[in-house]
Amino acid sequence: MSILEVKDIYFTYPDGDHRKTILNHVSASFDCGKFYTILGSSGCGKTTFLSLISALDKAESGDIYYNGINIKDIGFEKYRRNHVGIVFQNYNLITYMTALENVRIAMGITENDVGGDISSTALELLEKVGIDRTKADRRVTKLSGGEQQRVAIARALSTNADIILADEPTGNLDKKTGRGIVDIFKNLAHDLNKCVIVVTHSEEVARESDEILRLYSHTQSFNFE
Ligand SMILES: Nc1ncnc2c1ncn2[C@@H]1O[C@H](COP(=O)(O)OP(=O)(O)OP(=O)(O)O)[C@@H](O)[C@H]1O
Ligand SMILES: [Mg+2]
Repeated sequence: MSILEVKDIYFTYPDGDHRKTILNHVSASFDCGKFYTILGSSGCGKTTFLSLISALDKAESGDIYYNGINIKDIGFEKYRRNHVGIVFQNYNLITYMTALENVRIAMGITENDVGGDISSTALELLEKVGIDRTKADRRVTKLSGGEQQRVAIARALSTNADIILADEPTGNLDKKTGRGIVDIFKNLAHDLNKCVIVVTHSEEVARESDEILRLYSHTQSFNFE
């Protein structure tokens, strides 16, 4: 069974005096151990799609299943807290906190088992994505964009969620740093058996993934290549 099953999702936004269809009966399924990328032109609905599969938004019709259970039945908040880790494009870190505190706070919210000593687990995670102890104790506003991106990834991983979502995680990074981030996502899928779904504008990043999904604007089809 797929870890994530999206069935016939329909979603519109208000647009003046009518509504604009963004996702028109979209279906897709995602497995653990795989790194997926979603490509599509600007405005076609990629971020919207991520917000639906992370239960930040609600589709007008259609259903999303986590391990065969409708996320409506799990409860949106619970699903978000325990089953998905999200890396936002603008990181969404808490700016007055250190890198370590940002990760710790996420670990305090989930109901998943995150290991005994929260601080040392958080530090290990940060280390894994290339944030050493000195940087872990620095306020995140005093870290570079690439470093903040890594902190956001560590935070997404810290709750032990099976599904890791990221919205254009390499968009603001130089090539080398971007490649490092892509390697992290690959490892998450292939070594830690996570289901990793990354929205990107980069064909290069997409080539590194196991499956590419292309979202077409207005033709309203959403297909595997
Ligand atoms: N809250 C909102 N209210 C109304 N329309 C919105 C809202 N959020 C997004 N939209 C519109 O929905 C469409 C899809 O937006 P979305 O952010 O999903 O696109 P995207 O594929 O992520 O684009 P990009 O590659 O530029 O990030 C766009 O036309 C956008 O203007
Ligand atoms: Mg977007």
